Amino acid sequence: MWPYKLQCFECQRKFLAQEAGLRCKTCGGLLEVKFDLAGKREPAWNRRQLSVWKYRELLPIEKEESRKLGLKNLYIKNEGENPTGSFKDRGMTVAISKAIELGKKKVLCASTGNTAASLAAYSARAGVECIVLMPKGKVAGGKMLQVIMHGAKLIQIRGDFDQALEVAMELADKRREFYLMNSINPFRLEGQKTLAFEILDQLGNRVPEVVVLPVGNGGNISAAWKGFSEFQQLKIVKNRPRMIGIQAEKAAPIARAVKSRQRKIRPLHNPQTIATAIRIGSPVNWPKVLLAIRESKGTAETVTDRQILEAQRELATLEGIFVEPASAASIAGLRKLSEEGSVDPSETIVCVTTGHGLKDPSVLERLPKSQTGYNLEITNGSSLEALERIL
Ligand code: F0G
Repeated sequence: MWPYKLQCFECQRKFLAQEAGLRCKTCGGLLEVKFDLAGKREPAWNRRQLSVWKYRELLPIEKEESRKLGLKNLYIKNEGENPTGSFKDRGMTVAISKAIELGKKKVLCASTGNTAASLAAYSARAGVECIVLMPKGKVAGGKMLQVIMHGAKLIQIRGDFDQALEVAMELADKRREFYLMNSINPFRLEGQKTLAFEILDQLGNRVPEVVVLPVGNGGNISAAWKGFSEFQQLKIVKNRPRMIGIQAEKAAPIARAVKSRQRKIRPLHNPQTIATAIRIGSPVNWPKVLLAIRESKGTAETVTDRQILEAQRELATLEGIFVEPASAASIAGLRKLSEEGSVDPSETIVCVTTGHGLKDPSVLERLPKSQTGYNLEITNGSSLEALERIL
């Protein structure tokens, strides 16, 4: 940080930050931060990643803070910060580029919402026609809005995600002009593997012992495993993390297979969970997921809706990170595993949160009244007393 003072916008008097308050002590004018830029040159900003803190010399903050959630070496890789608010963008930018390379004019997906939102956005940008199939009444409001806003053709299926994907695959098989962008598309998974590259990059190529992800169709966990494996083959890193997949209790064909040591999954009919993003009974990528978990000596775990909602609130209130319920599943699962002792709190753990909390405002209806805030009607200027009483 470069040196600065607070200067009054009116009388120009200067104050030190500690003594200043929010208004000029002499005339009550507005204050402004004034850096002493005499003799200063541009730091090596072009070598830093784009972020608010890239420009830290010109920000009036001295101390660097790090974030923690109880576990000593836990990192949250928050994929909700991607352009459309979920991890899907990594895969979609690559898959759309490939679709264009292949001369495709129409792209198609079935989705619980995030794939659709991402595909709709990247299709709009690329100028290709986008068709999305979504299970009616089972998709979070924010995701529906994204799909509509980006101008995709939205088809709602009476049924669940698994049925929507089945009919999408049939259509893509029969009519080649519709290019399927679900996670059976291998090019999309290539984009998604960059999650692993980025985790290693951000940790300075220190390999975390454990990576925890929510699992639906299983595209993301298997793509991440592929990414870690490629960096190992390139000898950028020596080993790979244990991969841990978390599913919702009533939508957990993969966790069930892992726990009962089956080599195959048994598809589940009518899966249920508040985490609609991972409400999937017949995950297409199951062979890749089971192999990734086995090879990495990882595991899979289930969590209840209640544990998911608790973890969502915990992450939001303790860390200021707001994720959607499916993402909170990874936090809830990690908590369960560390309580059981399957994860050692001293290990370096990366928990991937996959989508932004704003995507699913329906959670508001699930919160207890005690958590939804106080009411105070300000009827006249004398309400300060009432306000102070509440506080
Ligand atoms: N988290 C979120 C927020 C998701 O949207 C999904 C999948 C997952 C986790 C699971 O990822 O399927 O690669 O194992 N959403 C898909 C969709 C199914 O249509 O948006 P996965």
